[in-house]
Amino acid sequence: MGIDPKTIDWDSLGFNALETKSMFKATCKTGERWSEGKLVPYGTIALSPASGVLNYGQGVFEGTKAFHTAKDRIVLFRPEMNAQRMAMSTKRLCIPIMNEDFFIDALEQTIQDNIDYIPPYGKGSLYIRPIVWGTGPVLGVKPADEYTFIIFVSPVGPYFKGDIKPLHLKVTHNFHRAAPKGIGNAKAIGNYSASLYPSFLAKKTGFDEVLYLNAGNEKLIEEVGSANLFILKDNVLKTPRLAGSILPGVTRDSVLTLAKEKMDIEVQETDVLLDEVCSADEVFCTGTAVVVTPVGKITSENGKHIINDGKMGKITHELRSLLVGIQREECEDTLNWLHPVD
Ligand code: COI
Repeated sequence: MGIDPKTIDWDSLGFNALETKSMFKATCKTGERWSEGKLVPYGTIALSPASGVLNYGQGVFEGTKAFHTAKDRIVLFRPEMNAQRMAMSTKRLCIPIMNEDFFIDALEQTIQDNIDYIPPYGKGSLYIRPIVWGTGPVLGVKPADEYTFIIFVSPVGPYFKGDIKPLHLKVTHNFHRAAPKGIGNAKAIGNYSASLYPSFLAKKTGFDEVLYLNAGNEKLIEEVGSANLFILKDNVLKTPRLAGSILPGVTRDSVLTLAKEKMDIEVQETDVLLDEVCSADEVFCTGTAVVVTPVGKITSENGKHIINDGKMGKITHELRSLLVGIQREECEDTLNWLHPVD
């Protein structure tokens, strides 16, 4: 039935799955609509060993957060973007598509029922993980005929230990994250299992994470398995364009918008060369989990490159503060990104 929220030390939260009171659960058969679902106690679920997800990885997920704000409200950040990406990802994996209202209503129900697990203002956030799997049995390679949608939540703090300590990334020349016309742009569970071994090797040798190169052209960078990458050079902010294998991150889009509209910085969604990254003025990665995290060192087969003396850059800091300020209602939400949960 979940841990007692009164026992949580809000100051030492990391990025881990803590058991909360409840989770949302719905099922849908092929050809039907996602229409019903309910809150059930948080806990394990039974699956057929022949389920589509266990055999062929037919599953996609989302990640969003709820914040306790300076105005003592609970808000979601741009949940419609998650709903739209969920629709895109499910379509790509032949999973029945759920409409935005169903998705957002399910998020709201889950948050309301787990409200006691939302960290106090300024102490972190409630990470929300909507996930949908093919749970009907299959043997041949084909879509399952039944699907299960779950939303579980966990109070979280920083994704990386040390929070905004600049990362040391290892450029891998041995593995690709996603094929150009594969499923890199969908939030498919298989993309993340593909990143486990490269990430394990990098961490074992003292790096924080892996920077992947484009599978079609290894002069170009792709993303950091769990986050998008940005570089700043001569006051131009660049990030790899969404050409099929890059995940369309909500934070990626938010940072592009804030830089352009609030900070008057030129932004480019374009091809980004590894050489440009290594000589950039600032480098950072973005994601719901990582927020805006600076990169201080990059090691590739050409050696180690120190970015901005290994420190967080000024623009990186400003973008992070602006984004977090909006999410916590310390800054005005002029872009209408917040979705209050009553
Ligand atoms: C997120 O940033 O929410 C993600 O989904 C990344 C995840 C792999 C931790």
